[in-house]
Amino acid sequence: MSIKSTNISTIEHRVEKDARWRANGHRGGVLWFTGLSGAGKTTLALELEQALFVKGWQAYVLDGDNVRHGLSSDLAFSPADRTENIRRIGEVAGLFADAGFLVLTAFISPYRADRDMARNAATDAFHEVYIEADVETCEERDPKGLYVKARRGEIPEFTGISAPYEVPENPELVIDTAALDVPQSLAKLLGYVESNFAIDG
Ligand SMILES: Nc1ncnc2c1ncn2[C@@H]1O[C@H](COP(=O)(O)OP(=O)(O)OP(=O)(O)O)[C@@H](O)[C@H]1O
Ligand SMILES: [Mg+2]
Repeated sequence: MSIKSTNISTIEHRVEKDARWRANGHRGGVLWFTGLSGAGKTTLALELEQALFVKGWQAYVLDGDNVRHGLSSDLAFSPADRTENIRRIGEVAGLFADAGFLVLTAFISPYRADRDMARNAATDAFHEVYIEADVETCEERDPKGLYVKARRGEIPEFTGISAPYEVPENPELVIDTAALDVPQSLAKLLGYVESNFAIDG
């Protein structure tokens, strides 16, 4: 996105990125969970946050439902509003990552271009994690009763029913939650995080 303001400059931090990483024992970064409603993004992000916290890591979940109560409370679910929502979250996640956190984001984020925009905001610290489950599985789970409402036509532009979901083309990690249970999914995530973000202490 182009910058509207003029007369702005960039300040340099005095704390080096490496110093933050060494203090934390891990790199900062963004694990961007994407997938259909009910695929398991929130469930797994919260499990992973807790498991990492117990290990002494700085991890924090940004979740769709919470963000829409605050940061994006002025936005709805039109394509333009979804894009702006993801733009804001991508920027916030990038800032958290820069601060040394491992950010776990749990947003449907159905558009490839929006996810790429989030990737650009966090640059090489960004890892796309496709939380994969087919729409039939998600509809069967329907943890929030949203599919029932969407089928009744009570929720316009519902991803997977009346709005598109663009499957990730090159995600860094895929978690197939139709095949794996929660502990198996968590183990796979933890293994990935260990090998990509841990630094020797
Ligand atoms: N391997 C798995 N990983 C995660 N959740 C699973 C798995 N297997 C079954 N589930 C169940 O699937 C449901 C996933 O719901 P959850 O709220 O996490 O989805 P979500 O992707 O965050 O959806 P939304 O986009 O609507 O917020 C839960 O009821 C969870 O118990
Ligand atoms: Mg969720």
